[in-house]
Amino acid sequence: MSRTVDVTTAALAIVWIAALHAGSGGPFGGPDPACVAPFRLADTGLYVAGRPGAIDPKNRPFSPQYPLWSDGAAKARWVFLPEGATIDTTDPGDWQVPVGTRFWKEFTFNGRKVETRFLWRASADRWVFATYVWNKEGTDAVLAPDGGVRDAAELAPGKQHDIPGIADCRACHGDKRPGPLGFNALQLSTDRDPNAIHGEPLAPHMTTIATLAREGRFSPARPELVATPPRIRTSDPQTRAVLGYFAGNCGGCHNRSGEIAYDGPSLKHSDILDGDAIAAALLAKATAWQVPGQPEGASHMLCRERPEASAMLYRMKSRRPSSQMPPLGTVLRDEEAVAAVERWIAARR
Ligand code: HEC
Ligand code: HEC
Repeated sequence: MSRTVDVTTAALAIVWIAALHAGSGGPFGGPDPACVAPFRLADTGLYVAGRPGAIDPKNRPFSPQYPLWSDGAAKARWVFLPEGATIDTTDPGDWQVPVGTRFWKEFTFNGRKVETRFLWRASADRWVFATYVWNKEGTDAVLAPDGGVRDAAELAPGKQHDIPGIADCRACHGDKRPGPLGFNALQLSTDRDPNAIHGEPLAPHMTTIATLAREGRFSPARPELVATPPRIRTSDPQTRAVLGYFAGNCGGCHNRSGEIAYDGPSLKHSDILDGDAIAAALLAKATAWQVPGQPEGASHMLCRERPEASAMLYRMKSRRPSSQMPPLGTVLRDEEAVAAVERWIAARR
């Protein structure tokens, strides 16, 4: 699924020089300045003008409680919501952020900034996806080619992080109706899961549903989000953490919105809240996809009697392109998550 191409630093420099020679004059460049990703990260509005590295205080940090596994990258995220604009929460499970909203996500591997992803609602019907590649010194980042960049950082001997291409962004963030994946009521809930896999504690300055509600950013207002912040309901903390992981790592695609063929229970953040019912449905659901080596018809999403016939677990463990899940974005499996799912299944036997 990955459509990356080989690009060396030298090739990036050529792209840069070509862009400078295109000579658009303004920081946005290109034919339609209002809807094109700027060439330099510094021109996306992330930093205070003239002070590279200093985050503009208009951009607020946030931290989804159930993060996506990205080969162990440390991540930082910011959102800019235009002054006075509100998030349309008519459908509480499908927030529509206002035109002009921008998101950034910075990836650090082994202490080095490698890429900063950018998602921008440029107009009512246009989302701009881009990612910026950092130089070795970590002083400047420029737009990656649309196809991505292979071998951008070494993760382990022989394993490299590839910067995804625009088609990859859309494979996860949606093609027909793109949008953010970590900026929703469950991910920004103040009822935060202390056992979330790779979860990080909520720093006091982070944007949450409570800070958004207090600022009057929801239209219609959603006082229930503050009164009873969303959480995955179950009496078992392990079930809560495992389902939260699925919501953050699988629910962007496994949600029955029609973008992929999938008829199991929806793992979308807003559909997964009845935790015990979803867990039971995953245990009951036979899969069309047969786990290799298992008898015909035995494979289930999760299988209590034969854990090795659990298609979700098998595909989380795999890093072969034909079977790995998620199908793109990582080369290393998430050992901590695999262990948590194995423990969870063992506890149900
Ligand atoms: C494997 C699926 C996947 C791919 C590929 C992917 N993303 Fe994401 N992205 C996510 C998920 C899930 C989140 C939310 C969880 C998190 O941030 O840990 C997210 C978060 C983000 C955020 C923060 C705002 C938000 O959605 O919560 C930005 C910005 C972003 N991605 C941009 C991009 C861009 C640009 C690309 C392509 C260069 C890309 N992403 C590729 C899955 C993906
Ligand atoms: C970028 C989108 C995407 C993400 C994210 C994703 N999947 Fe999938 N998944 C697919 C697609 C497309 C298929 C159908 C094609 C196939 O089986 O390869 C699929 C199929 C599956 C199947 C087979 C289901 C069946 O009924 O046959 C399982 C099991 C699965 N995925 C598990 C997972 C797990 C576990 C995660 C999260 C850790 C995950 N997927 C994340 C796109 C995704």
